[in-house]
Amino acid sequence: MNQAQYFTTPIYYVNDTPHIGHVFSTLLADIGARTAQLEGNEKFLLTGTDEHSTKVTDAAQARGLPVETWARDNAHAFRQAFGAFTIDFDDFIRTSEPRHKESVCLRIEQLMTTGDVYLGEYVGWYDAGQEEYVPDAKAKQYEYKSPINKKPLVQRTEKNYFFRLSRYQKPLLTLLETGELKIHPSSRTAEIIARVRDGLSDIPISRHSAEAWGINVPGDPSHVVYVWVDALFNYLTAIDNAERRHLWPATLQVVGKDILWFHAVIWPAMLLALKQIDGNEWLSLPRNILAHGFWIREGEKMSKSMGNFVGIKDLHKYCGEFGVDGMRFFLASAGPVGASDADFAQSRLIESYNANLANTVGNCFNRVIGMVSRYFDGVVPASAPHASEFIQNIAELSRVSRERAQAFQYDKMISSALAVFRAIDQHVNLTEPYKLVKQADNFAQVGHILHDCLEALRHGALLLWPVMPTSMTKLLHSLGCLKDGELPSFIHGRSVSTGCCITETRVMFPRYQETR
Ligand code: MSP
Repeated sequence: MNQAQYFTTPIYYVNDTPHIGHVFSTLLADIGARTAQLEGNEKFLLTGTDEHSTKVTDAAQARGLPVETWARDNAHAFRQAFGAFTIDFDDFIRTSEPRHKESVCLRIEQLMTTGDVYLGEYVGWYDAGQEEYVPDAKAKQYEYKSPINKKPLVQRTEKNYFFRLSRYQKPLLTLLETGELKIHPSSRTAEIIARVRDGLSDIPISRHSAEAWGINVPGDPSHVVYVWVDALFNYLTAIDNAERRHLWPATLQVVGKDILWFHAVIWPAMLLALKQIDGNEWLSLPRNILAHGFWIREGEKMSKSMGNFVGIKDLHKYCGEFGVDGMRFFLASAGPVGASDADFAQSRLIESYNANLANTVGNCFNRVIGMVSRYFDGVVPASAPHASEFIQNIAELSRVSRERAQAFQYDKMISSALAVFRAIDQHVNLTEPYKLVKQADNFAQVGHILHDCLEALRHGALLLWPVMPTSMTKLLHSLGCLKDGELPSFIHGRSVSTGCCITETRVMFPRYQETR
């Protein structure tokens, strides 16, 4: 083991059932965690649900259900959805759990002792749909309408607890400018820096408890902690104990671009404030934040009012047609991993599945395994005495792909992994083992070619394992490179070995015919 690595996802509002955006954020974190595991690290993946929101109480009320029941059932739906996508989470946190309440109260109390949380009065523009105050300059720019649902912003005056965010403008700027606090893709850093330079005002962090379901401000039952502040602490709650504290700081916090401000400014500022307190020195800042773009659908923005979300039912249907791994592959390779948005169009899904999985990965695997079965009775032939140029080329592609994974560019990581499979196909076309085999003298040479191809398949399978764990595990099993119950690893993995028996598996990734 090199290191303990901690990956987090946003925690999801349980006002409705899961949709593609939730699955996507979680999938990226899962790919990150699995990549860390593959590199020989201890990994920990946290996901969960954000429950103390008026969106949640409104949804429960609309159905005539107690909010606890509604939240519990929906939290279950999120767990199920992530399970169905083979997300290997190590903990699932719900903000209504006692462990979270305790943790939030402790942290707020600590912030009160340093004066970073204080009681004051706030007047400001409020976006009720988003449950957030909008700074005056932004409100003007938005023409006093919510940029999300276009409803008018309202003026609100409240006696509130505040977080002294203004105190952290300078340290945050330094951390962002020096790259100590890393935001990916880097284009997002400039946006955040520009906003921080504009100035940071203290922010209200409480609501009157009559209005909200939530965690009481310690010592003041008339206020509950603002849902966003409550939610951000989840990342600490889950690991703030003797067995897990070594996981901090988080290796990667995955978020959507819409919630980057909270994660790149408010959350780090709260951590800086907490870190000054005796005993909290371990609370350094997260190492990386990945802010992904948005999925749109067939060219249109997805929204409740349009009723065009790719919801969990649609996702299950697609998993039935393309396989869970097929869907994970499409989401990660064609999705908005970087700064741009991406279109969820059925035609793109079919095209990507057929071109990359059926024609490239699947075809390459079936072709090589087929030849080893036919010419060598399924026994791995001997390798050449020296590593071929082809194998050196594969090692280089593998290096590039791993480097991209370390930079959290999962879409790019996949494209160099696919290049491995393409290279195998090309190598077969170029060396023509199927022709060479017709002459007995060439038998050893054919063996060398196929040995190399099997070894290259192993590399390709390892590279794609974080994205398609089930099918790539099968592939590694059939190459004899993985025993039952073993986890694949770049570090401890074994190469294909001469004399070992290949087990044929079902045709991988059958071509998708639209008429099916
Ligand atoms: N509860 C807050 C997060 C608190 S984290 C301390 C929240 N929840 S959410 O359920 O509304 O959204 C969670 C995630 O889903 C965000 O990362 C958001 O970007 C993502 N998505 C929601 N719609 C999306 C798309 N259409 N496309 C991609 N991801 C999007 O915000």
